[in-house]
Amino acid sequence: MDADISVNTYNNAVPLLQLSHVSITPKKAPHRQLVKDVSFTIDAGKTTCVVGESGSGKSLTALSVMGLLSNQLQLSAGEIVFNDDSSGIQVLNQLSEIELQKIRGAKIAMIFQEPMTSLNPVLTVGYQIGESLTTHLGMKGNALEAKIASLLGMVGIPASRANSYPDELSGGQRQRVMIAMSIACEPRLLIADEPTTALDVTVQAQILKLLAELKSRMNMGMLFITHDFGVVADIADDVVVMFRGEIVESGSKAQVLGSPQHPYTQALLACVPDAEGKKALKPIDYAWLNEAESTQSMAQQNG
Ligand SMILES: Nc1ncnc2c1ncn2[C@@H]1O[C@H](COP(=O)(O)OP(=O)(O)OP(=O)(O)O)[C@@H](O)[C@H]1O
Ligand SMILES: [Mg+2]
Repeated sequence: MDADISVNTYNNAVPLLQLSHVSITPKKAPHRQLVKDVSFTIDAGKTTCVVGESGSGKSLTALSVMGLLSNQLQLSAGEIVFNDDSSGIQVLNQLSEIELQKIRGAKIAMIFQEPMTSLNPVLTVGYQIGESLTTHLGMKGNALEAKIASLLGMVGIPASRANSYPDELSGGQRQRVMIAMSIACEPRLLIADEPTTALDVTVQAQILKLLAELKSRMNMGMLFITHDFGVVADIADDVVVMFRGEIVESGSKAQVLGSPQHPYTQALLACVPDAEGKKALKPIDYAWLNEAESTQSMAQQNG
C-alpha cells in the first residue's frame, strides 16, 4: 500500500473508495479469474457507473467492497481502501468480519440486485428499515418510528405501510423499501446493483432523482451498476466498462460516452437506441475480440 495512505486519519487527497488491482477467483480454482486486476476510484459526492454484459464481474466487484463474497470465492489480489471522514482510512479487505459489520449498513450500504431475496418475509418492512438504525445509531421508541416514517416518505411509500410484510407490497415498493433501508444511516458510500431494472420508467425516474438528491445532500459517493446507458447518461460522473472480468475502458462520462476508445464500448453504445429511433441498432460485433485473442496467442507462441 502507498505509504502516505496508511495513516489512519481523514485525507482529502485520497478518494472515498479506491480499488487497486483487485482480482477475484474461486478458492478451488485460483487460476480462474472471475474479476481481473480491477482498479478505479470514487470520490465523495460522485457517481461511478459500472457497465458491462451479464457475467462480466460487476456484482462480484461490488460484493467484494462490502466484504460479502460467497465462501467459495476469494479476493486473490489487490486492495480496497475506504476513506471515511470519521474513522480515517481503512483497508476493507484486511478488516475482520466484526469490523466490517460496523461499516456495512452504516458507512457503506448496498442495494442488492435481487430485492425479493434480500428482504426477510417474516418481518415487517418497518422493522427491517429500523434494524440498522437501532444497531448502528442506537435509535428506538418514537424517534425510531418517526425516522422509519420519514424514510418511507422519502421513497414514496405511505408511512402506514411500515406494518406491512414484504409480500404485501408490489415489486417496485419492495425495491423502494430496500432503498429506504440502504440510506437509513446516511452512508458515505452507496452501492446500487441494478436498483431500478425491475421498475417501470416513471418509478425508475423518481428513484434516480431521489438518489441524486441524497448524493448531493449527504455528499455520498455512489457505485452504480447498470445495463442502461440512459441511466448512465443521467447520473454518472465517471464510467467503468467491464468485459469478462476486466476493465476495458474507464473515464469521465463525457470521455466514455462521447468518444469511446475501446471496440467493446463502441459496440455497446451502438446497441443503444436513440430517442427518435433513427439510429440503426447493431448487434455486438465481437470481431475485435477474435483479433485481440489471436494477437495474444501469436505473442504467446512467439515467445
Ligand atoms: N460463487 C460463485 N462461484 C463461481 N463462479 C461465480 C460465483 N459467483 C459468480 N460467479 C461467476 O463470476 C462471473 C461474474 O459474475 P457477476 O455476478 O459479477 O456478473 P455480473 O456482471 O454482475 O452479471 P449480471 O449483469 O448478470 O448481474 C460470472 O461468470 C459468474 O458465473
Ligand atoms: Mg450482477
